[in-house]
Order: sequence, then C-alpha cells, then structure tokens
Amino acid sequence: MARYSRITGTGSYLPPRRLTNADLANELAGRGVETSDEWIVERTGIRARHFAAADVSTSDLALQACQSALDAAQLRAADIDLIIVATSTPDMVFPSAACILQNKLGVAGCPAFDVQAVCSGFVYALTVADAMIKTGAANKALVVGAEVFSRILDFSDRTTCVLFGDGAGAVVLEASDTPGILASDLHADGKHVGILCVPGNVSGGKVLGDALLKMDGQAVFKLAVGVLESSARATLAKAGLQEADIDWLIPHQANIRIMQSTAKKLKLPLEKLVVTVDQHGNTSAASIPLALDTAVRSGKINKGDTLMLEGVGGGFTWGAVVLNY
Ligand code: ACO
Repeated sequence: MARYSRITGTGSYLPPRRLTNADLANELAGRGVETSDEWIVERTGIRARHFAAADVSTSDLALQACQSALDAAQLRAADIDLIIVATSTPDMVFPSAACILQNKLGVAGCPAFDVQAVCSGFVYALTVADAMIKTGAANKALVVGAEVFSRILDFSDRTTCVLFGDGAGAVVLEASDTPGILASDLHADGKHVGILCVPGNVSGGKVLGDALLKMDGQAVFKLAVGVLESSARATLAKAGLQEADIDWLIPHQANIRIMQSTAKKLKLPLEKLVVTVDQHGNTSAASIPLALDTAVRSGKINKGDTLMLEGVGGGFTWGAVVLNY
C-alpha cells in the first residue's frame, strides 16, 4: 500500500509584547528614525508585530507552538519520532534549536535537526519530513518554523526594521494511507546571496562583519513575485491539479502586495488568500505555519481542502507544497 504524509494538527505562538505601527514609529522617533503607520500599511499591509522578551529564544516560541499542535493532533511529545525546526535565528551557533526544543519537550532519542532556508524554511522542512515519512524513516513528525528576527534587525534602518517580527508555527505530520502532501517543488539560486542576508559570522570568539539584516527590498520584491508564480504552477503540474483546485493560498507572509500579486497571477479570488501578515509582520520561517494555524482555528480551512503553501526568502530560496488538508 502506498504511504503518504498528512497534517493532523497545527499550532502557533506569538510572544505577548505587541507593537502596532504607531508604537514602533514612536520608539523609532526616539532614535531619530522617521516612519509612520500610513507608510507601513500602504507599502506592506503590516499593522503590528510581536517581539520576544530578551530571555526568550527561538526554541521557547517553538515549544509553545508544538504543544498546541500536539494537542490538536491528540498526541504526546513521546509519540513523535522526528523533529525539524526551520529557523535562521537559532538559540545558539550549535547545537540546533531542534535539539534544544526536543529537550524542552521532555523527550529524547528521535532525530532532531534544523533546516536553514530563511523564509522558505518551512516548505523545505515540510518537504524533508514528507520524504522521510514516505520512506518509512519516520511516522510522526513535528515540523516547526520559529524565529526571533527582532534580534537581527537594524533599528536605525527604517527600510527593514518595520517589516519583521517574532513568532512560531508548527504542524504534526503523520504517516497515512491517503495523501496528504500531494507534491512539492524546492529551488535555490545562491547568486542572489547579497540582496537579503545577515553577513556577519562568528570567528575567534567575536562576531566578524555586520550581524544585522540587510535587504535590497526592490530586488527581493521583483524576484519574489516571479518565483512564487512559477513554483505554484510547477507544484500544481506535479500534482495533476489546476489553479482552480486551490481552496486556500498560504504564501509566505512578508508583504500584502507580493501576496495579492501572486493570487492574481494564479487567477485566484483574493478571498482564497490567507492573510495574517497584518497581525505579525514578516516572521520568516514561522509565517506559513502561523498563517495556516490561524486559518484552521478560525474555521476557514476545513478537512479535505486543497492548500497551496509557498515560501520565498534569503538564499535566494523558494518553493511550494500542495496538500490535501
Ligand atoms: N517609513 C517611511 N518611509 C520609508 C520607510 C519607512 N519605514 N522605508 C523606506 N521609506 C522611504 C524611502 O526612503 C523612499 O524615500 P525616497 O523616495 O525619498 O527615497 C520611499 O520610502 C520609497 O522607498 P522604496 O524602497 O522605493 O519603497 P518600496 O515601495 O519599494 O517599498 C519595501 C519598500 C516595502 C521594502 C518593498 O520593496 C518590499 O516589500 N520588498 C520586498 C521585501 C520582502 O518581502 N522581503 C521579505 C521576503 S524574503 C524574507 O522574508 C526574508
């Protein structure tokens, strides 16, 4: 009998400190940096973001999201036999946030590792978990996207610091006789490293270079709209589906204009677009599972719906997963 993987539970978590655009604009004004709610809403669709407290790490946010995904799947952490965390802001250089998360979940023994594909991290991680389940290497996986991007923001650069926030989302992915994940499509092109990066690195006990986020927003925008369309089409073709078969489009939540443009290119009505970027900004690898969980819990997404998840981010990386929920 064919073996597939299927999402059986979702969860998400946003740290309690919420800053509206006006709150952030006030804080930035104190540093001599000028921005406004009007500019941020009009250019990005973002209205608020959450920032983790100084003593809270990526694995702490991930733990909260995982506990709620496990509850939704009616499983205990001990039932899990694979943990993958997509993150670009891990707790430490090493070990992985996944190993730290495993310990916080109170379990041991199963494989646990991080995937680093920036904002495409969750679709990368989901694809890896799907492949491991299909080969029989795992039966019940926790696939997590978790980030504390507030730690790598340059608050003197208004072109980037207003865009990002912290958060986590998780799914339980289980082996199943029926699909589940129908197809996926992953890509990278390393020649674009410079348009979105944190160029610093750790050497000899010091950070060498600048360890804050740099982005050429317009270059990213142009690349993103192109690859989100091509990757959705490639994934649909692999699954033998048409655009009209998509019930819900859940793209990386970075900028409402990129998301709406993708929906239009796929001839999808905007009602089929899941939007949560207004509430948490760009949370990188966490944004897709955050949006998915929000739409599941609000009753928008129902069992049997066809979902298109799409990521794009630093690397450059991009990819999509189409699934039967
Ligand atoms: N507040 C007020 N004014 C601002 C701000 C701000 N926060 N930021 C920039 N401006 C000003 C600029 O200085 C510029 O002023 P000027 O015309 O006097 O020079 C003006 O606004 C226009 O700036 P642009 O950069 O041309 O604005 P644009 O419309 O391109 O929007 C943005 C910028 C929002 C960053 C856009 O390019 C974008 O969304 N790019 C994609 C970013 C993205 O999605 N990244 C994430 C994907 S991958 C990942 O998630 C890691």
